[in-house]
Amino acid sequence: MKKLLEEHRKLFGSFEVIEFVDEAEIAKLRAKTETDVPLDINWTWEYGSEVAELRALYEKGKVHQWNAETDIDWEFPVTKDDFVLNPQASLLAQACALSGKDEKTQKAAAFDELAFLLSQLLHGEQAALQLCGQLTNVCDKMDQKWYAASQVIDEARHVEVLSKFLARKMGTIYPIGPTLKYLLDELLEAKGMQKKTLGMQTLFEGTAVGIMDLMRSESRNPLFTDMIRRVEQDESRHAAFGVLTMRRVVKEASPEEMAEMEDWAFAILEALNANQQIDMLKVLGPKYGIDPENMTRIMVSLPNHAELNSIPFMHTVIPNLQRLGLITERTEPGWRKVGLMVDQRGGAPKFELPLVS
Ligand SMILES: [Fe+2]
Ligand SMILES: [Fe+2]
Repeated sequence: MKKLLEEHRKLFGSFEVIEFVDEAEIAKLRAKTETDVPLDINWTWEYGSEVAELRALYEKGKVHQWNAETDIDWEFPVTKDDFVLNPQASLLAQACALSGKDEKTQKAAAFDELAFLLSQLLHGEQAALQLCGQLTNVCDKMDQKWYAASQVIDEARHVEVLSKFLARKMGTIYPIGPTLKYLLDELLEAKGMQKKTLGMQTLFEGTAVGIMDLMRSESRNPLFTDMIRRVEQDESRHAAFGVLTMRRVVKEASPEEMAEMEDWAFAILEALNANQQIDMLKVLGPKYGIDPENMTRIMVSLPNHAELNSIPFMHTVIPNLQRLGLITERTEPGWRKVGLMVDQRGGAPKFELPLVS
């Protein structure tokens, strides 16, 4: 399968980075807010439960609902004067330390970086909200429709909580990065339940769980920890729906269909990963005297780049794809080559950018 966004790729050492350089093209991607989605509507007259594990997941979802306005302690302060996450988890804070900038600047840089990352998660949540709405139509079993409907309210709550956190506590919502916008459109426009479930529920939800788990374990702020813990708990239910549904899909798929899904899964995550953090660095780097390309070059050539880079992927999405038979001997070297997959014999590595010792 052809690589996505081929025309935007640039070699940094031996690593291929996706970078949008044309501001007009970025603006056009962001301005594209309408899109034609082929959607099949499926009625069903079977109202009893047909898929017991999905019914159980739906019941679990009902029990674990929460209220983004009243269950979160919004009074708790989040400020630029403290590290919200451990400084080791912030690329900008590390780069500032490396160039001798004081701690106040390092904290401000880490704060900006977190706002950028949370903004991207927020835009991803909006895509999940819309895609889940599609699933209520496109799925053919009532259990799936009920479950997808319960996920719609989860995703609305995630959009609510992240947008409120950004507006109330961080003061900024950054625009969506062009690579992310392109990939989310790919998922929203994908035809049929199989691709939608594989794309959003398995690949993106699985990756989101990994990112959130990392953020929660590095958090120093109780309000932030509580918010992420709640969202992450919902996301692991969503990733479970992806796996349960995909298990049925792969059982019925032909070898050709399996190969197509395997290639598509790789193409999507490879492109997501190929952006590295260059979109963030281009927006925030100059403010702190950091050259985005230089910094990216340093990151991708670190001897332990793959170990660090693969942490959020190895958490949920890679094991799930392996269990589904969607990473095979044919594609495994590709996943390893771009640092999405590593052996974890010594247990999961701790996330610590080794730029400053
Ligand atoms: Fe979500
Ligand atoms: Fe989700």
